[in-house]
Amino acid sequence: MDKRISEIAALANVSVYTDEATADYLDGAPHIKHARLRELYGSLVVKVFDRAREHVPIPRVLDLGAGEGSVTLPFLQLGAQVVAVDISRSQLDTLQIKCKQYGTNLEIRCEDINVFLQDKTRRFDIIVVNSFLHHVPDYCAMISEALPLLNPGGQFFSFHDPLRYDSLGAMTSLFSKVAYFSWRITKGDVIDGLRRRLRRARGVYIPDSPHDNAEYHVTRNGVDQDAIRSLFEKQNFECEVVSYFSTQSSLFQPIGTALGMKTQFGVIARKR
Ligand SMILES: C[S@@+](CC[C@H](N)C(=O)[O-])C[C@H]1O[C@@H](n2cnc3c(N)ncnc32)[C@H](O)[C@@H]1O
Repeated sequence: MDKRISEIAALANVSVYTDEATADYLDGAPHIKHARLRELYGSLVVKVFDRAREHVPIPRVLDLGAGEGSVTLPFLQLGAQVVAVDISRSQLDTLQIKCKQYGTNLEIRCEDINVFLQDKTRRFDIIVVNSFLHHVPDYCAMISEALPLLNPGGQFFSFHDPLRYDSLGAMTSLFSKVAYFSWRITKGDVIDGLRRRLRRARGVYIPDSPHDNAEYHVTRNGVDQDAIRSLFEKQNFECEVVSYFSTQSSLFQPIGTALGMKTQFGVIARKR
């Protein structure tokens, strides 16, 4: 295996595992928690980076919804220049500390990505959205806004979004729910959590509830992988959808993977 893949897999872990709040995030973030998913993520990061290097010696990366840097850090480590955009000052403060050794290779912008994307004068070789599309109500419109910022041969890379729920199939859907509840029940706050879940199941969503915002994707039908693929094909991009199984439960993760179930996906789309 390419040594860089294991380094990135390890970095994904380091980039979040620093204090109690981030340890909580890690516990609920399967793509960072499980070694197998970290490895998949690391291999895709390296693939996207190496392809960008076919065009430019130092790829320019735009990390939208950068959070604490689980994408920014590995791309910086590989030798890219990164612009990290996030609306949360506290997340970016942590990102800044973790990435301080990369100096001018990193630009941090604390703003809404919708504001950032209005500036169509900037150009990037890679646009990354990691564990982010499911937080954006109109993710297709957001992708369309971002694509003009890509250089020729540029790539759009997303990772860790839930496949459209109604495309999962009954068995996978059931297995995934059982896996989730087996993990959730160990987290406490069970009664309130259940109440929130039932409320959202009725379609009632409270915009300023931190829980509802954190779990916004729960109120919808996942992310539509087919709509995203078709968007890229219409824009003359080569598009690869990589799907995989993911759950918070360490017990169910290897079982779902062994059974070949798929619940989550990433996209690598390259401008022709
Ligand atoms: C689930 S986190 C993912 C963070 C990081 N990409 C990762 O994979 O660890 C989603 C991030 O998106 C940011 N975010 C959500 N909506 C945003 C918006 N409209 N503009 C900028 N950042 C946003 C949040 O502040 C949060 O840091």
